Amino acid sequence: MYQVKLINKIAPCGLDKLDRTKYVCAEEVEHPDALLVRSTSLHEIEFDSSLLAIARAGIGVNNIPLERCSEAGIAVFNTPGANANAVKELALCALFLASRKISDGIVWAKSLAGQAEVEKLVEKGKGQFVGPEIAGKKLGVIGLGAIGVMVCNTAHHLDMEVLGYDPYISVDSAWKLSRFVDKAADLNTIFTECDYISIHVPLTKETRGMLDREAFAKMKKNVRIINLARGELVNNADLAEALESGEVACYVTDFPSEEVLGMKNVVAIPHLGASTPESEDNCAVFAARELREYLENGNIVNS
Ligand code: MLT
Repeated sequence: MYQVKLINKIAPCGLDKLDRTKYVCAEEVEHPDALLVRSTSLHEIEFDSSLLAIARAGIGVNNIPLERCSEAGIAVFNTPGANANAVKELALCALFLASRKISDGIVWAKSLAGQAEVEKLVEKGKGQFVGPEIAGKKLGVIGLGAIGVMVCNTAHHLDMEVLGYDPYISVDSAWKLSRFVDKAADLNTIFTECDYISIHVPLTKETRGMLDREAFAKMKKNVRIINLARGELVNNADLAEALESGEVACYVTDFPSEEVLGMKNVVAIPHLGASTPESEDNCAVFAARELREYLENGNIVNS
């Protein structure tokens, strides 16, 4: 029997992919062959010598000690395409939140609850919460993986001009990857030309803090930044200064930090990118299939 230790709750349809006559899947198993994990950090966890594989039901693998896994010969899988649509849809929503004063408007409208003639009072809000349209504006997408490419396509169809950059592939191949990137760009061009910047890269040694004081200084005044990838991609102390000075007009994130959470030009939500039933199911199914292929057939399938 293969023993799979469930570090986090995984959608049942994923576990159904692991035949119970061959697999024990439980929170506690004695000598796991594999771990199934969502977002819990494994950095401080000691691995049993029986461990052969770890599957992350999600994209980012910054919660997994990759070097330690390589040294120990433990295969690591993630599910890059499985929640891309869910994150793309949230990124689309974030584009509008970054532009129109929707979140301030919601708070203000709710504050009218219980007052007489709410309909007339609500009408007064329209002059207070004015924000620009996105059509015709330049969007810089940093990171052209499964999510970044989908964001490019969607933004292109909303009449934005899309500039795409990926730190791991050349500008030319980046352009070929998505026919809806209107222009392949280097990072400098993204910083200096774009009205909106949306970041979709993994958190690595190279990308940590990639949006810092130097980057903000290059950006167009009133740039609007979306970060649904990882909080540490941004130097939050530097960002707080740029938001304070008005250099950055708005920051929308599902990784708010202490430094920026309370600021008026920050729209902060919990980490909701993959919080859809469809994405939970996809991630669980993909991760379980990857483990099954690896444990039973030695195949490396990173869906
Ligand atoms: C991911 O890495 O897959 C996303 O950040 C979504 C998540 O982990 O919930």
